[in-house]
Amino acid sequence: MILSDNIQRAPDGSLCFAGQSVPELAARYGTPLYLMDEERIRHNCRMYADTFRECFGQNALPLYAGKAASFRAIYRIAREEGMGVDAVSPGEIHTALSAGFPAEKIFFHGDGKTDADIRYGVEQGVGYFIVDNPDELKQLAEEAERQGVVQKVLLRVTPGIDPHTYKAINTGTVDVKFGVPMETGQAYAFVQDALCLPSLSVCGLHCHVGSEVFDETVFEDTIDVMTAFMAELYRGFGYVTEMLNVGGGYGVRYLDTDKHIDIPARIRSVADRLKQRTEELGLKLPFFLMEPGRSIVADAGMTVYTVSSVKRIPGYKYYVVIDGGMTDNPRYPLYQAPYTVLHADREAQFYAVYDLAGRCCESGDIIQPAIKLPIDTRRGDHIAVCTTGAYNYSMASNYNRLGRPPVVMLSEGDSYLAVRRETLDDIVALDT
Ligand code: LLP
Repeated sequence: MILSDNIQRAPDGSLCFAGQSVPELAARYGTPLYLMDEERIRHNCRMYADTFRECFGQNALPLYAGKAASFRAIYRIAREEGMGVDAVSPGEIHTALSAGFPAEKIFFHGDGKTDADIRYGVEQGVGYFIVDNPDELKQLAEEAERQGVVQKVLLRVTPGIDPHTYKAINTGTVDVKFGVPMETGQAYAFVQDALCLPSLSVCGLHCHVGSEVFDETVFEDTIDVMTAFMAELYRGFGYVTEMLNVGGGYGVRYLDTDKHIDIPARIRSVADRLKQRTEELGLKLPFFLMEPGRSIVADAGMTVYTVSSVKRIPGYKYYVVIDGGMTDNPRYPLYQAPYTVLHADREAQFYAVYDLAGRCCESGDIIQPAIKLPIDTRRGDHIAVCTTGAYNYSMASNYNRLGRPPVVMLSEGDSYLAVRRETLDDIVALDT
């Protein structure tokens, strides 16, 4: 086992993912290639669903945050595993609906929903809007009235908690662009205002403090702040928070040195804290929601590349250049995100240190600096980057007019294409 128990070496030293030969998959589907381990996705879904059931019975639902990886096969799996879905755009909603995902289990997120987005969401009958701000609230109330429906909503508030994660993915502190802050009193007024709108049914509250969170107490602290706010709303104007969604964010291991989060144990601890606080404050235990993305799909993914060239600049640096790059994985340029990189064909006695560079026309196109690969790594070899299931395919681009790689699902010793490779015709498909 390397990093995760779905990654192994065969006796000949070649890499296996989800029990299947990575070089063989590369030969069959071509590279660059995203592989996804379906059993692992299902296992991760069940980890949430089972723990939620154990802690809350039927009074809780885990939502899969589609932003982590959004294509039809994932929504089919989420549906089969009984998850709800967090969607942030008509594109994600359309993908989910076209995969047969039930609209009433979709929670529509986003801080910048346009009039058209709001109309679309109401028309499609999404279960809940997660309303980010007063402008959206007003527009949504008008749209629901126009369509003659009462739209269920959760109100997104900002609890002012620092989750100790990268700045770009920190969403919980007071001065962020998401949600309505509690500290300034605006969140209190937001709930009051929402309750005056007859075309909306205010079911509860939402918050999300960050992503790739390892801190032990962030979610318990969030429960403390949110339940105190729920008590304030109840005392202030008798509002009973029926649903509480505390967002996503549990971190995953990208490196062997990263610590492992025991997610079921963490959820139990959060559930205990919620029960304790609501009891102390004399509040009704709300229906509980979380919306994990990364911890559902990250360790189910691997990206496979072929080496195009190896550059050795004596006294300076060695590069391995591959047939993909920041177009299929922009996370190192964006966040200096760490990854485990492996030679997929063989192990070696001697290794050298290389930067794994992409094929895009900029020097910043690095998948990972200073990784160890066999000293004789050469053109035509296969390289695997581990833990790429979250925020890789979903953040991929066509920079340099490169086509996006296909997504191949590995399931029960077999494989199938979940997203096909983009062709040159796809590249010009939108051009007039
Ligand atoms: N709910 C909300 C409201 C969110 O904003 C997010 C992530 C999630 C749930 C899911 O969080 P997760 O369980 O995946 O941590 N592109 C960045 C990550 C951005 C996360 C944005 N929001 C990355 O590649 O690390």
